[in-house]
Amino acid sequence: MTLRHDLPPMRDYQLAKRYRWDPAGIDLAADQRDWAGLDAREQDVLLNLLSMFAAGEEAVASDLAPLLWAVGKRGGRREEEMYLTTQLYDESLHVEFFSRWFAEVVQKPVAREQYYGPSYRTVFFEQLPRALDHLLGDQSSRALARAYLTYHITVEGVLAETGYQAAFLACRRRGVLPGLVAGFEHVKRDESRHIAYGLYALQSLLRAEPQLWEFCTDTLNELLGQALGVIPDALAPYGETIPFGISLAEMTDYALDQFNKRYNVLERAVAGEAA
Ligand SMILES: [Fe+2]
Ligand SMILES: [Fe+2]
Repeated sequence: MTLRHDLPPMRDYQLAKRYRWDPAGIDLAADQRDWAGLDAREQDVLLNLLSMFAAGEEAVASDLAPLLWAVGKRGGRREEEMYLTTQLYDESLHVEFFSRWFAEVVQKPVAREQYYGPSYRTVFFEQLPRALDHLLGDQSSRALARAYLTYHITVEGVLAETGYQAAFLACRRRGVLPGLVAGFEHVKRDESRHIAYGLYALQSLLRAEPQLWEFCTDTLNELLGQALGVIPDALAPYGETIPFGISLAEMTDYALDQFNKRYNVLERAVAGEAA
């Protein structure tokens, strides 16, 4: 077969090969020293954030396979299926990185479940698996749109992006944990391909069926309400003064900005404009 190398998923497939990284190769020696120098509240904020990341990566790694299957079942492009194999592998690398960081830097068992608030549990443990598992019995445009809106736009595009921002700000403001920052840089670059693919797939669906837009906006509004709830749930235990100068308003604004950027791209596709 002749592959269309000009298609965005095929370009991202090539980028995934070029930027392949090894979580086992990141030096965590400085992180071990830095970790011991953080106070209990600082450690708790990072454990909170990283517990959500670790479980989030485990959830997306487990939940993605039905999408790859559904795209093939619909007779979609081979290029998209090939791209999705890279995303599946990326998510496993992310699981490996956070698992290694906990094991080698924190070096003690952490009750990670204590950090999953009600909104987080709803998004990651209910909405995400439900939307993706649904594809096993229904490969309609609506079912696919709901999966992309949940996985690529809300979980990756809003929540993960906001989490990186919080973690980057925390590490940068204190000049600590270079191994974590290096891992986050790789994860963030991978995630930008994932979000770009989700937007591409949704744009394709919307250009073919603009009447899907009303369903998409209803779904996005429902998902956004839950996603924005994750931030105050996570930061509530720290009261007014959150370690590392993190602020609830700053994080909520950042999450909303991410949401609006993606919403605007999709809205332009419905209007028939180039992204
Ligand atoms: Fe990931
Ligand atoms: Fe991802």
